[in-house]
Amino acid sequence: MQEALALPLGAVLPGVRKAGALSPKRPAVETAGLADVFPYYAGFSFDWACHQLALHETELLSGGTVLDPWNGSGTTTLAAQSLGLNAIGLDLNPVANVIAKLRAQNYSQVAKIKRPSAGRDVSVDDDPLAAWLAGPTVRRIRQWFNAGEDVGSAAQDLLTVSLFRAIREVTKRFEGSNPTWVKRAKEGSETVSLASDELDEIVERHIAFVSSRVGSQSSPRQVCVATADSRNMPVASSSVDIIVTSPPYLTRIDYAVAYSRELALLGINISSDRSLRSGLMGTTLIRRQSEASVSFGEAASRLLSLIQKHDSKASSGYYLRQARQYLSDLASGLDEITRVCRNSATVHLVVQDSFYKDIHVPLADICIDEAAMRGWALKNEPERFPVRRTLTSLNKSAQFYKKGDVAESVLTFIRG
Ligand SMILES: C[S@@+](CC[C@H](N)C(=O)[O-])C[C@H]1O[C@@H](n2cnc3c(N)ncnc32)[C@H](O)[C@@H]1O
Repeated sequence: MQEALALPLGAVLPGVRKAGALSPKRPAVETAGLADVFPYYAGFSFDWACHQLALHETELLSGGTVLDPWNGSGTTTLAAQSLGLNAIGLDLNPVANVIAKLRAQNYSQVAKIKRPSAGRDVSVDDDPLAAWLAGPTVRRIRQWFNAGEDVGSAAQDLLTVSLFRAIREVTKRFEGSNPTWVKRAKEGSETVSLASDELDEIVERHIAFVSSRVGSQSSPRQVCVATADSRNMPVASSSVDIIVTSPPYLTRIDYAVAYSRELALLGINISSDRSLRSGLMGTTLIRRQSEASVSFGEAASRLLSLIQKHDSKASSGYYLRQARQYLSDLASGLDEITRVCRNSATVHLVVQDSFYKDIHVPLADICIDEAAMRGWALKNEPERFPVRRTLTSLNKSAQFYKKGDVAESVLTFIRG
């Protein structure tokens, strides 16, 4: 059964502290808030999101609106719903939104998902799953996926997440030490081929697990999860009371590559269709249009100047443009946050500093500057938590440069 989802308005979840610095870091294994149904990269902990929201007594009593413009797997939207707040979660990655919807839905009356008949013919020509799976295995997965068309949206999300899990299990060999860089089969002989019965058992095991984790909830509040861009939010101006969010960091994580197998199940081939990949903040693809017109605050400008002057190859070319594009997306997201928030709103932002070669990327300071330029002031001192394992610690070539420690920061802003 789903945990703690039927609390009265104004309640504080058991075990959630109301004061003191709680780290946003998700524990290695987190079951609270259904985080284990499909652990999403760089998600923050459910308890931490509840803790932030529990500080807002007025909104808890009046039922305010919470927004996460980089909602990922929906930790914020689920925490808000659990506490009786209205929640809006936006993410450009449709994979994230299926998980976020699964975590927020009511499963008291869900149709049972039956093993599909093998007779149903499905064309697998040009199927994006063929980058990892052999033709007959792709066909069987598609038969399962199509079975979701007749069972209603909640069961369809349950089936889709179960298939995400099954595909991850059988394609594990395409994952390297960097969890966000998924390889593809170079030729047909490298693809995974499974007997239909074996695959059916794997899929059914995951359906049973996911079904055992989701439960019925009687929250009075609805969650709205949408595939949308943080640079252009489909949210009314001055309508949001609280933001709890964490944008992508300036670490060159490509969320489209990280979720390429799940996107393939949804019919999106990131190799031939670059639109999703190029729209994501932090993407390693450089868009055609120039970002040169955005003017940044001091910390961002200093970072760009240091990258430009770095003597390593492509620093003044590709890497400078990539950093500028990231900062421009961050600035557009902050513009939109400023537009949709009420004057009394609070913004809780989780960001992590990083390194570009030996240059410190002070993302927390950059956000403080950029937010100040838009009328936001820090409500209290930033809470900083040391980060022990970063992607650079996994990347041998990046270890050539000497780097310092990095921290993850929780920044809380109110209008200045
Ligand atoms: C750090 S993750 C958020 C994780 C989330 N807090 C959780 O607990 O699962 C950042 C998210 O931003 C999303 N994202 C990247 N670019 C975006 C854009 N332009 N608009 C909306 N979402 C975007 C990514 O898909 C990713 O899910």
